[in-house]
Amino acid sequence: MTTNINNNNWSPDSWKSKPIVQDVTYEDQDHADRVVNKLNRLPPMVSATEIEKLREQLKQVALGNSFLLQGGDCAELFDYCSQDPIEAKLKVLLQMSLVLTWGARTSVVRIARMAGQYAKPRSKPTEMHEGQEILSFRGDNVNGFDPKDRKADPERLLGAYFHSAATLNYVRTLLDSGFADLHQPSNWNLSHVRSDAVRGEYQSIVTQLTDALDFMGTVGADSSSNNNALTSVDFFVSHEALLLEYETSLTRHLTSPLTKTKKYYNTGAHFLWIGDRTRQPDGAHIEYIRGIENPVGLKVGPTTEPGKLVEILDRVNPNKEIGKVTLITRFGADNVEKNLPQHIEAVRNAGHIPVWVCDPMHGNTKNASGGVKTRHFVDIIQELSQTFRVHKNCGSKLNGVHFELTGDSVTECVGGSMDLTDEDLSTNYQTYCDPRLNYEQSLDVAFLIAKYYQNERNSKDFPSL
Ligand code: PEP
Ligand code: CO
Repeated sequence: MTTNINNNNWSPDSWKSKPIVQDVTYEDQDHADRVVNKLNRLPPMVSATEIEKLREQLKQVALGNSFLLQGGDCAELFDYCSQDPIEAKLKVLLQMSLVLTWGARTSVVRIARMAGQYAKPRSKPTEMHEGQEILSFRGDNVNGFDPKDRKADPERLLGAYFHSAATLNYVRTLLDSGFADLHQPSNWNLSHVRSDAVRGEYQSIVTQLTDALDFMGTVGADSSSNNNALTSVDFFVSHEALLLEYETSLTRHLTSPLTKTKKYYNTGAHFLWIGDRTRQPDGAHIEYIRGIENPVGLKVGPTTEPGKLVEILDRVNPNKEIGKVTLITRFGADNVEKNLPQHIEAVRNAGHIPVWVCDPMHGNTKNASGGVKTRHFVDIIQELSQTFRVHKNCGSKLNGVHFELTGDSVTECVGGSMDLTDEDLSTNYQTYCDPRLNYEQSLDVAFLIAKYYQNERNSKDFPSL
């Protein structure tokens, strides 16, 4: 799609003149071009109005008036576009957000890694399989996980569009039909919690939450005249902006509901982020993301130099709009104290006010004794608690959290109140990429954050495990 160039010399495909990493090459380029032509014609999945709404909500998050919960699969598969997995993921995110709302005493903005989180950056283009070198799995919108299906197939881009659209359609249907009515937290099953003490604490949070909801019901504070705040919720979708041909095809010139002028919106998701491997300031991905109106995320890792981070922010958000950029830090539990203070200081000195989010997953991946990839619940909590603490010590504030999680009872991360061990991992290890928190572990994290806020109000520190 070649379209008008805006006054910053940006167009939806100006990235094509920049160096690109993690690119996909197709054997049959004519076929890929035909697919992109089709994508160019397909309708938007999200609207400019929804995108601007999220942008406004993220401004409130950056100002500390609201908290961000972002979560979902590492690699979403086309197969997850089905009733049960969609319901399970929506349910866990809604329940977590209710616990966080109660704990932090602020509203929670929910962004799922869902309805489009199909493309994966890989550390190596090939891998060994049964003594043979084969192409790595790059995500369902590039190739198949089956070793026989590793050739990049452009038809998968259309598959990505239609699976995203069907997933989003079902999410919207569920929310319109009362799925988000969270008045019954007492139904939550806490039987997975092995420790009596922890179960008692969680139960007490559920009881207090139920009481608060009952009270609001009694005084009419949750009636429909109050925008159905407790029975229906805003819910946004996001994915990593990795396959730029796909992102460009869904980038549309639409009338901004705010300025009534035409602007470029990525209509394939409300929020897009740039991963740790593709955030080169002069590279194609940063060039693409700087021109769209959507709020955007940037992964920040231990190899991100503070000066480079500011360079990227100046490029992506030259007007220093509050909350336009979400910085998703993922240092690893041992690196937070070393790295985060410099990043906070550099960003502050440059006059940017981002949304600060902690992704305690991607810096804490380890090999379990059986060889599979796992993450330890204690490392995840450790990174989170260090991040809360460092922000506080630096006079800043952690505005949100980002998790790889699923609503199902998988066994991919060890620990949590179920106390999963390396030996348990083979019971239900499902992920095609990184290990995710399961339903119970996800709720564990939400309860721990709620407890953190409770303790903070009583001037104590992050709860230790
Ligand atoms: C991810 O979020 O799935 C991911 C690959 O993260 P990162 O870019 O931070 O490594
Ligand atoms: Co991942």
